[in-house]
Order: sequence, then C-alpha cells, then structure tokens
Amino acid sequence: MESMTQGGKAAENGGGEPEGVASGPEPRLAAAHGPALAAADKRHLWHPFTPMRDWCVDGHEPVVLVRGEGAWLWDQQGRRYLDGNASIWTNIHGHNHPRINAAIEAQLRLVSHVSFLGTSNEPAIRLAQRLVALFPPDTLTRVFYSDDGSTAIEAAVRMALQYCQQTGAESRQRLLVFERGYHGDTLGAASLGGIGAFRGPAARFGFAVERVGGMDQVRSLPDQVVGELAAAVIEPLVQGPAGMRPWPAGMLRELSDWCRDHGVLLILDEVMTGFGRTGRMFACEHEGVVPDFIALAKGLTGGYMPLAATLTTETVFEAFLGDVAEMKTFYYGHSYCGNALGCAAALANLEVFEEERTLEWLPAKIDRMSERLRRLEDHPRVAEVRQCGMIAAVEICRRRRPREPWPWEQQMGARVCLAARRHGLLTRAIGNDIVLLPPLCVSEGEIDHMFKALERAMDEVLADTCPAQPQALSRC
Ligand SMILES: Cc1ncc(COP(=O)(O)O)c(C=O)c1O
Repeated sequence: MESMTQGGKAAENGGGEPEGVASGPEPRLAAAHGPALAAADKRHLWHPFTPMRDWCVDGHEPVVLVRGEGAWLWDQQGRRYLDGNASIWTNIHGHNHPRINAAIEAQLRLVSHVSFLGTSNEPAIRLAQRLVALFPPDTLTRVFYSDDGSTAIEAAVRMALQYCQQTGAESRQRLLVFERGYHGDTLGAASLGGIGAFRGPAARFGFAVERVGGMDQVRSLPDQVVGELAAAVIEPLVQGPAGMRPWPAGMLRELSDWCRDHGVLLILDEVMTGFGRTGRMFACEHEGVVPDFIALAKGLTGGYMPLAATLTTETVFEAFLGDVAEMKTFYYGHSYCGNALGCAAALANLEVFEEERTLEWLPAKIDRMSERLRRLEDHPRVAEVRQCGMIAAVEICRRRRPREPWPWEQQMGARVCLAARRHGLLTRAIGNDIVLLPPLCVSEGEIDHMFKALERAMDEVLADTCPAQPQALSRC
C-alpha cells in the first residue's frame, strides 16, 4: 500500500490509470490562489450538512474543485478524483459533456431566463413534451417546473392536498409516509421525512403525516386513518439517504394497488432514482407502476443545473380548472420555474441518453458493481453491502459477528471517505454507509478504480486499532 504521505499523481490516484480514462490537462489554481481561496471559504462560507467547526480547523484545506471531465474531477492542486457520488447524485453522462455544454451555450446566446408566470419559453415547452413521452401514453401528461427535489415534492404534495379539497374529499388532508424516508429539506418536504436528524423542527410545522415502516403496517391502518389520507409519498425501490436501502421486491406494486383500492393518490419521489440510476429510466418501471405524481430533479439536467419537474395526470390537472373566483388555481411557484438554460440542459441530457444508448450499457456496469460489492461482503469491517442498479452502499462496522456498528460520533464512514481521496475517489458517507453512486458514464475500469480506492481507504482507516475518542475531523 502506498504511504499516505507519498506525493505524486500515481499515489494519489491509487497507483495507475484505470482503463478508458482520458488523462486531460491538470488545471491548477495559481499557487497563491489555492490557499487564499481555501482561507476565504473557511472565513465566509457555511456548507450544507457539514459540521463547520471541524471544517474550519487549522490544517484542513477544503478541496476546491476546478474542472471536470467524464466521471473525473480535478481540484485546485491538480489532484484527480473519480466522482464516486456523481456530485451528490446529480451527474449522469459525465462532467463537461460537449453535447450538454453546447445546448446550454446555444440557449445562453438567446435568453437565459424569463418569467414562467404569464409567459413561456421554447426549451421548457419542448422538455415537457419529451418528459411526458417517457411515460405510457395519456398517463402523466402535465409538467410543473420548480428548482430542486424538495420543491418538486412540495409541489406534488400541495397539488394532492388541493386536489382532494376541490374534488369533495376534504377529509383527506394527511400524507402516508415511510420510516427512514427522505424527501428534501424545505420545511414541507422535511416534515415528510423519517430520519429524525434531517427533519429538524419541521415535524412541528409541516404537513400532517401518518408514518409507517412498510406494507404490513399500511395494510393494517384503521379505516378512519385511511379515510384521512390524501396521498402516499415514497422513494420507489430504494430509500437513498437512509443508506441506499432497497424495498422488498414487489412492494411498490403492492403500494400502488393499495392506493388505488383506497382512493389514496400515489406520489413517487424519483429525485434520486430517476434518469437511469436503477438500470431503467425510472424506478417505477421495474414494477409496472404509474403514479399520480412523479417528482424529478437531480439527474434531470444531467447534473448541470438546478431544475425540477413534477408530473401529474390530466385528472388532477382538470380539478384545478374553473372561474378565478372559484379559487381552484394552483397558487404556487418560484422565480426560476421553467428556467430556459436548465430546460435546454435537460433536453440535451435526454438526447444523450438516446445518442449514447446509455441505458443499454448499464447492465454490464451494474454487474461489475455487483461483482466488486460481493468481494467486499466478507470484509471483516463490512456489515452489509446494498445495491439497486448503479446505486450502492457499503455499510462498515466495528465488528461483524455479533454485529457492532461504529458509534456515529466516531464518523468512521467520513474518515474512510477522506482517506479514499488520497487514492483518487471522492464520495460521502451517510453515517456508516459509504455511498457509491457514480455517473452513469463511468466505465468498468473506472468502477474497478472506485472500489480499489475504497478498499485501500478501508484498510487504512479500519485496521484493528481505532480511535477511542472522537477526534476533530477534516470534513468531506
Ligand atoms: C429521494 C430524495 N428526495 C428529495 C431530495 C431533495 O432534493 P434536493 O436536495 O434537490 O432538494 C433528495 C436529495 O438528496 C433525495 O435523495
């Protein structure tokens, strides 16, 4: 194993070029800029989901990413990393993709943004046509744009609640949600979530929810509760921020049938699973489910721009039509709804899916991920590996049998991710779950690189001795 202090690109990147990786120029910031930028970051920025005391400690130099190409990113010192979590689950076809770049540049020369309240724009119209065509005919026919996953979900929930009010089902004002679910951080979206640490104070202010663990509990809900439900909200096939935990096969189908039988609308949160991550364009395709609402974000623009879409049915849409005085209008929206640059990027993203036959290449990549995950199953510090298509997590533990997790405050997952950087892998952990979710353009050689880097980092960090006391940690 290379020494952790060893310099040079080979050592940093795990000892060699993975197959199929073009080694581009290595842009560095001018020597004086790197440290100055890092200092300014620590002086002025507040990063999301980041314990900022640890971030700001002396000796922690934030990684400032300056360039991307395919599945790779370069930092301010020219160090190269495989983007092992697709830049927080957004990137699809790789960074700096010529096709998506060109689409954004072309739109930029026309107009970047215009109001979507009272006016429209061409890329937004064309994108709506393309999105609707990704689903069975005459199902999800209406597209409502917003900015990110949280707002896509909130739009769906508010539409569902208002739909019930306007169709004689006023008693239905609660949402069926799932333990360990996650739907974003705005107050409404957070109130649906089942991960306490992420919910914050939202529970006190947000939507009224009925939270269940799975289908057994759904089936045994009392009639009175069922009669109050407007919609069920679920991450289909796999719960992401819960640590990439797949649902049992068939669960989504069962939930969809149950919703139909009980007059409950179905909202699918495909913010993470959408756009090929599970091996199909959308996770719901695996179980032949078409929901009443689907929330799309992250990969919608190929990971280029913040844009989200909530798709729904004509039945829902029609319930919002009427005289202005009837107050049926959906009074909701954001300044950047239907952003022309974002829509142009999203159109190009869908074109690249076709041109590069992205979905056709996935089975081999998914198999390679499975094969590498299987090798980790017997690792003495691995509790479990989980996979759903190109989405995977490696759960590390202090002891396998009997199972003993690392205490969360020791942040062993984050420590492993930090060590993995020295081997050319950038990813994040959620507690003890190390996420592996590369851009779909990743090659099989690059998948190997990702796992080798992770294995080396695990060997370094999770050796027999471990820190008895939590130590200040430079954050990843
Ligand atoms: C399943 C799911 N829903 C919603 C969101 C929220 O998306 P955003 O961060 O774009 O608001 C996320 C973000 O990770 C997510 O994974």
